[in-house]
Amino acid sequence: MRLVFLGPPGIGKGSYATEISKILGIPHISTGDIFREEIKKNSELGRVVKQYVERGELVPDEIVIEVVKRRLEQADCKKGFILDGFPRTLRQAEALDEITKIDLAVNFAAPVETIIERLSGRRICKNCGAIYHVKFMPPKKPGICDICGGELYQREDDRPDVIRRRLKEYEEKFKPIIEYYEDKGILVTVNANRHLKEVVEDCLRIFKERGLYNR
Ligand code: AP5
Repeated sequence: MRLVFLGPPGIGKGSYATEISKILGIPHISTGDIFREEIKKNSELGRVVKQYVERGELVPDEIVIEVVKRRLEQADCKKGFILDGFPRTLRQAEALDEITKIDLAVNFAAPVETIIERLSGRRICKNCGAIYHVKFMPPKKPGICDICGGELYQREDDRPDVIRRRLKEYEEKFKPIIEYYEDKGILVTVNANRHLKEVVEDCLRIFKERGLYNR
């Protein structure tokens, strides 16, 4: 099952992909996570993308496409994958079709106030990358990851000024991508303005209806 998760920053793509990848047994590939990991390692790629990621701007297409191409060549992607945060431009969507066939593009939608509230309260584990929210998905002990005991932090690009820039970037780029998948007949829209569990259940129901999942 080759899936693409679309939607604005903070809608919950990473949270839903984490749950669904466990259920389906396919990897969750987040271009944002790959870039943050490279920035942490201070690798050559990390040094190139740092300025874009921290300012909330898109990394140039040729860099992102190459990163995704290499990742999809790995053995764990043979059974399928969930791409989270890619494609983000029409050029990326077209390049993806040259790399592989996509079965379904899931577009998550919610009002902008919901998105801003989710981003402002997001906390991430420094160690394992697990996603929390101070109000909606708080850890058992404040500031500590339930899974690995790692320290939680707030992302550099979750500051209000950067959030605004990221949402603007998204607004400018998303329409052609939605239309691209709509024209191919593989776009579904899911209401993400609900509890995480309900959003995940809705996705699984859609996968079943489309004959992509049968458990
Ligand atoms: P990326 O990491 O992809 O960031 P994003 O798209 O802005 O998405 P987020 O990770 O911010 O949000 P999400 O939708 O995954 O939400 P989450 O699950 O965390 O990209 C970062 C940067 O990398 C970009 O700005 C760019 O510079 C670069 N980049 C990446 N890909 C690129 C590409 N293809 N091209 C060019 N540049 C690229 O949830 C958010 C919060 O809400 C959490 O706290 C969570 O606990 C909470 N939450 C989630 N769902 C619910 C729910 N249903 N109810 C209540 N709370 C919820």
